[in-house]
Amino acid sequence: MDENNIMQQLLLSYGTPDTSKPPLMETILNCFRNGAKRSLPEIYDAVIAVRPGTKESTIRGRLNENNGKLFKRVARGVYIAIHGSATAILLEGDAWEKITEIETESIDALFADPPYPWLNHHIETGTTRKKDGHLSYETRELDTAILKEMFRVLKSRKEGAGINGQRISGGAHLFIFVPAPTGDTWNHIDSLIKEAEKVGFRFNKLFIWDKINIGMGYNGRNRYEGILFMSKGERLIPYDLSIPDVLSVRRPDIAKCVHESEKPAELYEKLIRLSTRAGDVILDLFAGSANIAMAALALGVNCILFEKKREFIEKNK
Ligand SMILES: C[S@@+](CC[C@H](N)C(=O)[O-])C[C@H]1O[C@@H](n2cnc3c(N)ncnc32)[C@H](O)[C@@H]1O
Repeated sequence: MDENNIMQQLLLSYGTPDTSKPPLMETILNCFRNGAKRSLPEIYDAVIAVRPGTKESTIRGRLNENNGKLFKRVARGVYIAIHGSATAILLEGDAWEKITEIETESIDALFADPPYPWLNHHIETGTTRKKDGHLSYETRELDTAILKEMFRVLKSRKEGAGINGQRISGGAHLFIFVPAPTGDTWNHIDSLIKEAEKVGFRFNKLFIWDKINIGMGYNGRNRYEGILFMSKGERLIPYDLSIPDVLSVRRPDIAKCVHESEKPAELYEKLIRLSTRAGDVILDLFAGSANIAMAALALGVNCILFEKKREFIEKNK
């Protein structure tokens, strides 16, 4: 069976492509084409194996787990999870490079939990971010280059029915996770907001993730992290108006996490419900545990994820 036949099988199993939606399938096809060394029988087996999908109840059940093996490897650096009509595709690679391959104005909501370097000096003193005295991944500042790309790939306007049937319109949402504002982080957060505004984003407000579980703290015990809520220009009225700006979701025990900076799927679920509807496509630049994919699939939302470190991807397979 050649590559085209496999793609035909895939497309058939998806049903008629919805041309009003971004060509997620095309993204997947491109990933296959880019993978130089792959075994076609392996791809076929993997795709067929995942096609029956994980049952709704199983996905839901996994929202509270941290070790769900959701993804199947289908080509080198390409992993997919399919649930009903929703697909999550996890691509191994550098977010700064991968995002340039995403089509302009194709993403309905963008998530970035970046590997910021702002607290790196605390590693040395051991006051935070400790895992044997090391952070287990590289750090890098979100710079103008990637902020511009983030702006480019997001949809500028979309229209549809909100709750109670009212018409909604506005630019797509961006969520950037940041640590709690402190003497060490306040200026960095402020600079990041200003850089984002320079490329065209509108800063709406700070959301709070109340972790309920109190962590270690050097100036008051940390119980929350921030989420910068931005829009591409005019803000899209949220689809789910029941979501407040303080999101209380218990942080899982670190011993049960597959990733040291893991965010719970329930937290992502709330943000996804705020900004998307079933059939939309979200992008997460720094997947880590890929918990966002579980939340997205449970809501019928397609998801593209990038993660540079294979070790984390392997844990999600
Ligand atoms: C703060 S963690 C994200 C945790 C994630 N939100 C979760 O819930 O598990 C940042 C992740 O970005 C990854 N990363 C670091 N540099 C990257 C890059 N240049 N491109 C893509 N991923 C990168 C790290 O390996 C790490 O897994």
